[in-house]
Amino acid sequence: MRQTALPVARCFVTRELPGDALERLRAEHDVETWGEARPPHRDELLTAAAEAEGLLSLLTDPIDADLLAQLPDLRAISNYAVGTDNVDLDAATRRGIPVGHTPEVLTDATADLAVALMLAIARRLSEGEAVVREGRWGAWRPDFLLGRDLHRATMGIVGGGRIGQAVARRVEGFDCRVMVAGRDRGELERVLAEADFVSLHTPLTDQTRGLISEPELRAMKPTAYLVNTARGPIVETAALERALREGWIAGAALDVTDPEPLPGDHPLLDAPNLLVVPHVGSATHATREAMADIAVDNLCAALAGERMPHCANPEVYERDG
Ligand code: DGY
Repeated sequence: MRQTALPVARCFVTRELPGDALERLRAEHDVETWGEARPPHRDELLTAAAEAEGLLSLLTDPIDADLLAQLPDLRAISNYAVGTDNVDLDAATRRGIPVGHTPEVLTDATADLAVALMLAIARRLSEGEAVVREGRWGAWRPDFLLGRDLHRATMGIVGGGRIGQAVARRVEGFDCRVMVAGRDRGELERVLAEADFVSLHTPLTDQTRGLISEPELRAMKPTAYLVNTARGPIVETAALERALREGWIAGAALDVTDPEPLPGDHPLLDAPNLLVVPHVGSATHATREAMADIAVDNLCAALAGERMPHCANPEVYERDG
């Protein structure tokens, strides 16, 4: 039964979401949901969303200008992610379409994972587990599986936004010296030269695509680790592979890769001192449910003609006056 007298809008949701947030959307609007575990292909998305007024998308759905041009009724996009690099924000703004995203609720989960990756790569946890599972656990040895310390390390945080700050707070508890690089090139160069861990926390934009490439990896200390929980294309994959093979850096721990998903036979996976997990920074029950709540709040607000609580292109409201 509808709980509001507001006009019912046609919505397309590109995946079932954890929790009961989508039930709220279904109570207010006509909702179709993509039912498969894989993302819809572009033509499938175009067909399914052809008449949609509201679109709830995932980071795996590229929403570009050409796709937007083929969705004439679209009035609101709600992206189930804090990052909006899969959406052409300028094209949406030109069409007067607000784009929602899900900041804040995933800050802590992502920062937790960044610290987990730092510890795991520096203390060689995957190698240790493989030793045990493969029956290679011999007698205790003074020189076996030696790693490096997180405590009292110099932490280089690239991107001083919410997640970068949350990582800084955590590693202060490990008595780390924290250095933060914002958009200034000089700050980045100082971080690369001095940090024992370089942890990436910038959004993916035209300015940050390929930010960490051969010169930046060569500028890091050979004892330093690269940690990426932001977006894969911020790091140039081929350069990282060489950096690991040739020992420019001590190792890398990645939650995100380019390409993503990383095929099981990708050459990067043969490089030494690499830990990769499959984009799970926000993957806790509570966080993913909170993200779904915000995504639905954003969509319902926009469809009701109200301002989205978390809008990635707020200029769309100024444009409308
Ligand atoms: C995001 O929200 O952008 C993360 O990458 C997934 O939660």
